[in-house]
Amino acid sequence: MTTTVGPPTVGPTTGGPVAVGPTGAGPTAAGRMAAGPTAAAAPAGGASSTAAPARPVADPAGPIRLPRHLLSAGDLNRATAEHVLATTQRIEQAIAGREVRKLPTLRGRTVVNLFFEDSTRTRISFELAAKRLSADVITFSAKGSSVSKGESLKDTAWTLQAMGADAVVCRHSSSGAPQQLSAWVDGHVINAGDGTHEHPTQALLDAYTLRRHLGALAGRHVVVVGDVLHSRVARSNVLLLTTLGAEVTLVAPPTLLPVGVQAWPVEVSYDLDSALAGADAVMMLRVQHERMSGAFFPTAREYSRSYGLDARRRALIARHGIVLHPGPMNRGMEITPEVADGAGSVIVEQVANGVTVRMAVLYLLLSGELEPAGAGGRDD
Ligand code: CP
Repeated sequence: MTTTVGPPTVGPTTGGPVAVGPTGAGPTAAGRMAAGPTAAAAPAGGASSTAAPARPVADPAGPIRLPRHLLSAGDLNRATAEHVLATTQRIEQAIAGREVRKLPTLRGRTVVNLFFEDSTRTRISFELAAKRLSADVITFSAKGSSVSKGESLKDTAWTLQAMGADAVVCRHSSSGAPQQLSAWVDGHVINAGDGTHEHPTQALLDAYTLRRHLGALAGRHVVVVGDVLHSRVARSNVLLLTTLGAEVTLVAPPTLLPVGVQAWPVEVSYDLDSALAGADAVMMLRVQHERMSGAFFPTAREYSRSYGLDARRRALIARHGIVLHPGPMNRGMEITPEVADGAGSVIVEQVANGVTVRMAVLYLLLSGELEPAGAGGRDD
């Protein structure tokens, strides 16, 4: 059984910055969850995942107010998140049907993609997003740079600062690296995934995709399944989806749930079949073998049997329900190929929406349409 419903706070995992909890999302519908063990989740070694002390959400129901940097999905109150999604839609409409899908908005601005960890979708989509806004784009990967000679993050930041980067998009294996970077550069820092902490633009593109199919998310039931312990995608989605009023259920083996998950504003279940019944969407998470230092489940086959999404389980969600995965997928483990490629799968659409959402984020931060909070910003 499940059902842990708690105060609106979500903490990061491995020593990253304190994450801001989502806004007013309170307890979700009681009685929806099936019987199972009480969620006294604790990792079985490996990641030191704990719920850090949470700071309160700043002005959760307040007006549109962009943060100077996008470090956490919890930096966005509901009005601001809605504004980012509406801006994404406007950009999509503005470039739809154009032969040249490019806008002049960020001409003369420089965006640096700073990737210390591997990426396909996020790196390419940020690059494409910046180019479609006519910005100058520099993509930096740690491999092949002076980082491999021992250069520190701080020295790398100062180099970017000297070159006048207007925005730095940062992916790093250490939770909190983008926040640290934001203290060293004048440009806007966007977190493109930091360790096991957060991936806010992934959550925005997921929310955008969900809204395209389901309409407003208030009251919609989204089931997030798998390796929550190591998932920055899960953390950012819990923050953003609950901010937007969705009801979120996390499903995972006890070993892959973080300590303190009881305090998250979600329900927790160990029983995938019952959690999926009638759900509006299911979001499968990648099993992150590279972040695991211990045995979190007996075998891959056992994991798939209990927590994988196959055609039988896919049929349990609502008829209008959709299937999401942030990628990259372990096909045959957390999701079968027939479900990943089948009806109601929006995985490819998520990737396409990622470009437009990142255009909206770059546009809003760099264009000055809304002055960022903390920089003499105004409310809208
Ligand atoms: N979803 C996601 O972050 O994918 P990449 O690691 O390929 O960027």
